[in-house]
Amino acid sequence: MNIVEIINKKRKKQILTREEIAYAVNGYVEGTIKDYQMSSLLMAICLNGMIEEEVFSLTDIMYHSGESLDLSSISGIKVDKHSTGGVGDKTTLILGPLVASTGVKIAKMSGRGLGHTGGTIDKLESIPGFQTAMSLEVFVDQVNDINFALVGQMGNLVPADKKIYALRDVTGTVESIPLIASSIMSKKLASGADKIVIDVKVGEGALAKSLEEARTLANLMVKIGKNAKREVICVLSNMDEPLGTHIGNALEVEEAIQFLKGNYEKDVYELVMTLGTLMVQMGLQVSEEEAKRLLKQNLDTGKGYQKLEEFVSRQGGNLEKIEKGPKIFSVKSIKSGYINKIHTLELGEIVRAIGAGRYQKEDIIDYGVGIVLSKKVGDFVLKDEELLKIYVHEKDMEIGRILDCFEIGVHYEEPTPLIYEIIK
Ligand code: URA
Repeated sequence: MNIVEIINKKRKKQILTREEIAYAVNGYVEGTIKDYQMSSLLMAICLNGMIEEEVFSLTDIMYHSGESLDLSSISGIKVDKHSTGGVGDKTTLILGPLVASTGVKIAKMSGRGLGHTGGTIDKLESIPGFQTAMSLEVFVDQVNDINFALVGQMGNLVPADKKIYALRDVTGTVESIPLIASSIMSKKLASGADKIVIDVKVGEGALAKSLEEARTLANLMVKIGKNAKREVICVLSNMDEPLGTHIGNALEVEEAIQFLKGNYEKDVYELVMTLGTLMVQMGLQVSEEEAKRLLKQNLDTGKGYQKLEEFVSRQGGNLEKIEKGPKIFSVKSIKSGYINKIHTLELGEIVRAIGAGRYQKEDIIDYGVGIVLSKKVGDFVLKDEELLKIYVHEKDMEIGRILDCFEIGVHYEEPTPLIYEIIK
């Protein structure tokens, strides 16, 4: 077998056999297939797609490229949550502690930022001292003790995705349904959870741009779960505007803290309650009403916030020491009207450009930079009123590029719903 033949086959829109996919993926992990060859194959997959059988093979080969976590020493049902990635999506930072505070066991492995979307591990590393790496023994002990632990991709778990994910981030090969489905599901299967809730983002700021693409992705992941005897539920949610108000690593941690202290944006609340209810139902085997009641109670009594503090300090972090900025500029509207659209992908790219994300695998993130929206879609803004605050380090900002992200009109337009549908 030969990698050039495999690349050519996919370039010609042909179906790859399981053996060919294994040859490419395993060769890349071992280093016999080079970055430029894998990039080329990934681009061919991006452009020409894969049929279901190819995606099942790709997922299985990635899943078995390394070790799997054995979580059997954690009692009870282990529930995991994943997001396909968006702009300002800090739900894991909220849901992890909140759901764990109801008694559900969450042993979670998360990723770094990908393309214009942020990653939970980068966000958590904006908390000084926070450790995202630990041994399996410590990880299991922490879940047994406090119901929740969150780590980066561990040791030799799905090394194929670890390498391919980093390569996709810097080669324009992120937005591909087969690559997203296999990346997410290989990690979810290897990280050992019994039940998995996946937030499939749809819209301009998401990897799936249309509802149809999101449905295909969700159905694929549910089927991969069924084949592996794991229950997977996908929630299709809107990413036509950033989630909540804060975008950027430390800023999103700040919004998560505020949420758990009871100050929340409507959209974040709706998403947290939808995903959280499913997680609690799955984990505690209770009714929808009981799951909602538990979540509301733990939010109102501050139990969710206490769990966040416990989790952060257990992993070595200090919430008091989070740094933002250091420079803050206010960006004002140049006209009055209703905000009908926020170009979310572009706003995500701006936040990446000021240092919150990467362009090369080795890039170092500037944790304190980002944007805090003062207005959301559907709001009215006056000329010279603040649209957002931008937190930067030293880089110059093109204010015109930021203003172009906002479509402001004289007529009010009904915003699109936040939750589209749930696929089981
Ligand atoms: N999240 C992942 O883990 N992988 C992807 O490809 C996209 C989102």
